[in-house]
Amino acid sequence: TVRALNPLRQTVDALRGQAAGGTRLALVPTMGALHEGHLTLVRRARELAGLVAVSIFVNPRQFGPNEDLDAYPRQMERDRALLEAEDVDLLWAPDVGAMYPEGYATNIGVSGVSAGLCGADRPGHFDGVATVVCKLFNQVRPDIALFGEKDWQQLAVIRRMARDLDLTQPHVDDIVGVPIVREEDGLAMSSRNAYLSTGQRQAAGRLNIAMREAIARLGSGDAAAVMADLRAAIIAAGFDSVDYAELRDADSIELLDAANGNARLFVAARIGGTRLIDNMAAR
Ligand code: PAJ
Repeated sequence: TVRALNPLRQTVDALRGQAAGGTRLALVPTMGALHEGHLTLVRRARELAGLVAVSIFVNPRQFGPNEDLDAYPRQMERDRALLEAEDVDLLWAPDVGAMYPEGYATNIGVSGVSAGLCGADRPGHFDGVATVVCKLFNQVRPDIALFGEKDWQQLAVIRRMARDLDLTQPHVDDIVGVPIVREEDGLAMSSRNAYLSTGQRQAAGRLNIAMREAIARLGSGDAAAVMADLRAAIIAAGFDSVDYAELRDADSIELLDAANGNARLFVAARIGGTRLIDNMAAR
């Protein structure tokens, strides 16, 4: 485990020096409280690169003032053991002071793809994500980086940033998306699922089923009625409120009135104090 910038540089240089020429370094950024979703990213990284680095940093800049920054699960010892079992080469776990030292003042904002969905519900969230991911890229300088499709809009924001800022480590084409890993009942794995009571957990498993039923009904007609019914179905399943249930273009994240070959269904809904998200192809 490396916690400060100077030893990080030395460790990355040493790992690269020991590896055969042309060996690629993959980075998997996380906020810890690791589950099978995260570990699937790590295993995919191992398939794609000879060296695998994982970062764990609960990034205050991507949490809103009324969000769960303090409550967010922190399990460093458990996470470290899980990553050791996966033969991860480097665990980068900076503290907040190393990431944002006194006087820190720079923000990265990505417009367009950040505007709707979680960007609308969580002002400043994707600025916080883009800023920390850009810093992580510059700190570790990986050849490839992996992100889950669970956070589809986040992946779109990071790709947009990498393209717009001409990043080379990694290049936009080396930002890899990994399909959503789900529990047996279809609930997308998330560190926030730990907040759910037994009853809430049961209800949460009905979200992906309601989404699949909506997609089956979509056809090529107007999506508005299907989306209204989907919202009602999510409430009937036991959720307290729906932040959004929308059909959007998978790449531009622009709102669609009807399904097409690139349509994706995005949902965020709340159960108790917990906000869950999911998305799936809607073709
Ligand atoms: P975190 O929520 O810890 O997720 C880390 C990575 O794991 C993200 O790329 C996320 O999409 C992926 N992931 C989480 N659950 C998944 C699942 N069920 N299936 C597939 N992938 C999954 O996302 C973040 O952290 C942060 O915003 C971060 C990118 C680290 C910046 O702070």
